[in-house]
Amino acid sequence: MPASISQLAIGLLCEVFLWQSGVPIANLTQPAQTMQGIGASGAWWPLDLYNYPDAVRQNVSYLLFSSDALGLTSYRYNVGGGGVGVGVPSRAPETTYISTTSSNYSADPQGSYFLHAAAQYSVPQLTVFVNSAPPSFTTSQASCAGALLNSSIPLFGTYLAGVVQYWASQGIHFAYVSPMNEPDNGFPPASGSLSCTQEGMVVVPSVRPTVVQSIRAALDAAGLQSVLVQADETSTQVQFAVEADLWIPGAAGSIAVISHHDYLFAADTALQAMGDQGRYLSGGKQMWFTEICCFVGAENSTDPASALAYGQGYDPTMLSALQMANLIYRSFTLTGDAHFDWWVALSSEMGCSPASDPACATTSNTQGWNDGLIYYDASYASNGNTAIYLTKRYFVLKHFAHAIPLGAVRYVLTPLPAFRLLAFSLPSGGWSVIALNLEPDQALLALDTLQLGTATQAYQTTQDEDWETLRVQNALSCGTVFQMVLPGSSVTSIYFSG
Ligand SMILES: *[C@@H]1O[C@H](CO)[C@@H](O)[C@H](O)[C@H]1NC(C)=O
Ligand SMILES: *[C@@H]1O[C@H](CO)[C@@H](O)[C@H](O)[C@H]1NC(C)=O
Ligand SMILES: *[C@@H]1O[C@H](CO)[C@@H](O)[C@H](O)[C@H]1NC(C)=O
Ligand SMILES: *[C@@H]1O[C@H](CO)[C@@H](O)[C@H](O)[C@H]1NC(C)=O
Ligand SMILES: *[C@@H]1O[C@H](CO)[C@@H](O)[C@H](O)[C@H]1NC(C)=O
Repeated sequence: MPASISQLAIGLLCEVFLWQSGVPIANLTQPAQTMQGIGASGAWWPLDLYNYPDAVRQNVSYLLFSSDALGLTSYRYNVGGGGVGVGVPSRAPETTYISTTSSNYSADPQGSYFLHAAAQYSVPQLTVFVNSAPPSFTTSQASCAGALLNSSIPLFGTYLAGVVQYWASQGIHFAYVSPMNEPDNGFPPASGSLSCTQEGMVVVPSVRPTVVQSIRAALDAAGLQSVLVQADETSTQVQFAVEADLWIPGAAGSIAVISHHDYLFAADTALQAMGDQGRYLSGGKQMWFTEICCFVGAENSTDPASALAYGQGYDPTMLSALQMANLIYRSFTLTGDAHFDWWVALSSEMGCSPASDPACATTSNTQGWNDGLIYYDASYASNGNTAIYLTKRYFVLKHFAHAIPLGAVRYVLTPLPAFRLLAFSLPSGGWSVIALNLEPDQALLALDTLQLGTATQAYQTTQDEDWETLRVQNALSCGTVFQMVLPGSSVTSIYFSG
């Protein structure tokens, strides 16, 4: 059969198929936010992983930072507060601070190791973030259960600018400084306990403008004008809503980004309001979603589209990965966030023993926590098990990290009932589309290719496959409509020529 006739036949088949199925076609509409990174933090796990054989440390660095692997485009280095008062050794990083006139940059070799690794893999955006100031700057004289002393704010600024300046002298350039993390919570000991379980430091809303002004001034004085400040990493949308008026107007002139968390897993309207409020009060600064973890379906729902709740549970499966993907989708489309960070890149909170139970790593349980992308054995020091375990969240976040490089511009797509769709105009040319199918059944994805151009590559993660390469040339292209049947409970990213 001559090619022209076969093409005609396919064309007719396409039209009949689309017409019969009544499938709507998604089209690109207007541009939205310019994206600025997909990351995770280096809090805590470096303290354990530093003890692992170097081959494993190098593998972890590769798995997180290499563009052949997860390819995070952002990394949050946690500058330690000394861990004073923290009873969990693996959450007590050393501080480089000795006094106003001396520092010890040999301290915290664990955090430094993975910061170097991120820089060696050319992770394009590095942020230094603080859970607690060094003890001498806090009311508790510890790294938790206190507040930043007002009298220490200028010194705190000088100290942080010094940290950034030191790393710049080592060839490692931070793009952002985040001087407080969840400043609404000092993470004091639980009742009946003498020690904290993590670093934390209260900074009341009225003081936050002074803190960011002081950091800005110290960075400028150190010749670090290009290093930007972000704040305030509020824990929840509810907290954000009541505090925003008290700090954003006074801080806006010193910050580039308003960063937030969402540990009460706000509803759609509240997420939208948070974005609007942050941009309005700051005169249009970007909103960033800089930390989340530790959710299960509300009432343990196994529908990935249903509401989430903070709570215990280890779920390495596609369910948790789809819940995360939907959370990111809602952050980008409702709040208008330009950046997303998972909380800790690695965790040992598996809730089971992978050394003695072969099913542990791949089976959900209610004892662990969904706080990591990769897991390791909490008992590694005693049982010598230095294996690492990848979750579906790791592979699903890879779709976002790869498809959303820094500078990608999100475009709104007309909705398709079966999918949650994100489209990005890529700085290198062309487009990427991420399609989430949260339903159990397969569905037909139909995209108008007038602007997208031809599909060049596609990758898919399902319960059975991790980042499977799809043969896009086998996808049915009907005139200007790209069509592909995507399985239930899947994440697919497709690249187009433009
Ligand atoms: C999308 O594009 C297709 C093909 O160009 C067109 O037929 C359809 O009407 C468009 N749909 C919307 C919602 O604009
Ligand atoms: C600096 O930190 C390193 C690593 O913890 C430690 O071995 C060393 O004693 C510290 N030096 C000073 C002067 O505190
Ligand atoms: C710092 O000053 C503010 C405003 O005067 C006050 O509300 C806050 O409690 C003070 N913080 C500390 C830690 O003393
Ligand atoms: C999920 O189930 C566990 C065990 O039954 C329960 O303790 C927990 O509260 C539930 N979590 C949520 C968010 O409903
Ligand atoms: C790195 O870790 C992954 C996940 O455990 C494993 O599959 C891979 O073989 C490791 N690679 C090297 C070079 O050790």
